[in-house]
Amino acid sequence: MALRSKKIGIFDSGLGGLYVARAVRAMLPHYDYVYLGDTLNVPYGGRSLDAIYTLSKDAIKYLFEEQECDLAVIACNTASVTALRKLQIEFLPKHHPDKRILGVIVPTLESATELGASRIGLIATDYTVRSKIYDEEIEKINAHATIFAKATPLLVPLIENQGEKYMDMVLADYLEPLIEQGLDSLILGCTHYIEVKDRVRDLTRHRVRVLSQDEIIPPKLKDYLSRHPEMEERLGQGGTLKIMATDINPSFLKNVEKLMGEGVKTEVAAF
Ligand code: DGL
Repeated sequence: MALRSKKIGIFDSGLGGLYVARAVRAMLPHYDYVYLGDTLNVPYGGRSLDAIYTLSKDAIKYLFEEQECDLAVIACNTASVTALRKLQIEFLPKHHPDKRILGVIVPTLESATELGASRIGLIATDYTVRSKIYDEEIEKINAHATIFAKATPLLVPLIENQGEKYMDMVLADYLEPLIEQGLDSLILGCTHYIEVKDRVRDLTRHRVRVLSQDEIIPPKLKDYLSRHPEMEERLGQGGTLKIMATDINPSFLKNVEKLMGEGVKTEVAAF
């Protein structure tokens, strides 16, 4: 049997995936993790398909080839909708047939369906909304459910640049017309939005169930590992976390400290 030495990579375009990583570690603390934020290229949301695919492929390649990861979670919705299928179909079989890449779209929609959602709002980046992947995937999971999507491009820059004081106004403007469509649930379809989930819950006055990926991905990953012992048995159990970013800037460091605690080092990922 292979030694338990491999790590779980968690990839995001920037800092948003730190919320997912923190929640995953809270539920599955014994594994070894490498977090990679592509802070040099964030935001991905307004970029072209080719650019997002190439950035995501390079990041996953780095996690697999330089950071001893055998399993990678693409926490970023924009990268999941753009790159995941192509990476699974083209990149993995050719370069790393034994490794696995998971995304966040299908687990999010499965959770929504398990909770009985049928009129599902989605707020996400421009790219995620235009891709219509949430619509395509819900069709396969529950053909009776409908997605009501709204691109909310101002949220990532506000979150990345400490724009809290403008947040409620912007959120209210985005959310009111959506909620009026009689939603039962609302997906926060961008890792960054986890930061504002409590505000969204307050603003919607709990009229809809707000689905946040920091609450969805950890149990789904746990379930995946229990169904895939061939992967689980490869994973190291040192309980370590390595945080990496393509650009170590003050905003990222501030968020690492806020979310992961003081004294957690960030290393530069160069690829
Ligand atoms: N983290 C990305 C997502 O989940 C959003 C930020 C970006 O545009 O890069 O969609």
